[in-house]
Amino acid sequence: MQADARVRVAVNGFGVIGKRVADAVALQNDMTLIGVADVVSDHRIKVAASRGYPVFCSLDEKRAEMEAAGITVVGALDDLVRDVDVVVDCTPKKVAAQNIERYRAAGVKAVFQGGEKHELTGYSFVAQVNYAGAVGRDFARVVSCNTTALARVLHALHRRGWVKRARAVLFRRATDPWESHVGGMINTVVPETKVPSHQGPDAQTVIPDIDITTLAAAGPFNLSHIHFAMVETTRPLSVQEVREALLAEPRIAFVRADDGLVALNSVVELMRDLGRPRGDMWEVAVWEDSLAADNREIYLTYQVHNEAIVVPETIDCIRALTGTERDGAASIAKTDAALGITKTFIPAVPVGAHGGI
Ligand SMILES: NC(=O)c1ccc[n+]([C@@H]2O[C@H](COP(=O)([O-])OP(=O)(O)OC[C@H]3O[C@@H](n4cnc5c(N)ncnc54)[C@H](O)[C@@H]3O)[C@@H](O)[C@H]2O)c1
Repeated sequence: MQADARVRVAVNGFGVIGKRVADAVALQNDMTLIGVADVVSDHRIKVAASRGYPVFCSLDEKRAEMEAAGITVVGALDDLVRDVDVVVDCTPKKVAAQNIERYRAAGVKAVFQGGEKHELTGYSFVAQVNYAGAVGRDFARVVSCNTTALARVLHALHRRGWVKRARAVLFRRATDPWESHVGGMINTVVPETKVPSHQGPDAQTVIPDIDITTLAAAGPFNLSHIHFAMVETTRPLSVQEVREALLAEPRIAFVRADDGLVALNSVVELMRDLGRPRGDMWEVAVWEDSLAADNREIYLTYQVHNEAIVVPETIDCIRALTGTERDGAASIAKTDAALGITKTFIPAVPVGAHGGI
């Protein structure tokens, strides 16, 4: 690929993550979305077509159904794969693992998502932690929403040598909004009986030397996840030191209960009010007014928008694999500018603004 050429990208699987990744790729001035592939024939893939994304069919036996539904199918997944530099595989857990040989045979690079195991690619990616190691690789896995959030927050502390031992409780959404009619739960909380829950060991695939244990549960809500982290520190820290460390880290932003942001739903409403696509929050939202510290530990509460948080990571991973940007900080800055990722959610009121008539 020429240095000045745009990266040619395909998205396989146009679901919760795939549709967001496709839209984000389309916003980057150094990437071209060549097409999206899926197996469905309903409103989901029709929206892709309406956006002008060329639609491909991932399974031959589904093509007739797609065409009968009025979708113009440009070709098969293999046709799409042959025409791109990178495939972002956003198919469901385990389906993606079966695709890796297809990508290898086509000589195309691929980004996988967090439903796959670390071993599939041997490289688990969070941009601000380990971008450099992914440069030029053929395959990498962007870790799950929960692991991405853990890695962002803990890396801010760990790289300063502050983390002796991290413990986090993850309270997960029951299901995604689009499929709440299928598998939602009501009036209960389901604890994971496996301790540690898989997210702690998964965070160690990104930050290998961190001491972390996680516990998890799922509850009857679908707006996002919330984490409660208790971090034993190597020395007593002030809340101000923790604040500054988090402020210095990309893709972490503060919310405050005294701004009316008192719960998951209020933060979601803020994202809608800000006019974000699908109400997405790509940042980890840390409650600034619940940050606390004592002589031994610091305490953090933060919200993780599971549908959105891995999207900027995926964009950076595309740049890393293709080597079009070798500097992680530069890629993060490009992605953040293109998407509108911020450190301050609530816009400043312009000087002289007034509410009168
Ligand atoms: N939903 C989340 O909150 C979330 C967050 C982070 C990471 N992830 C990970 O992202 C990946 C995708 O998850 P999702 O939530 O977007 O799933 P999803 O079910 O919303 O979307 C998957 C899409 O793939 C399509 N598909 C199914 N079989 C296919 C095949 N053989 N070929 C091509 N397309 C096929 C489906 O029709 C669907 O459109 C998983 O690894 C998941 O663990 C999900």
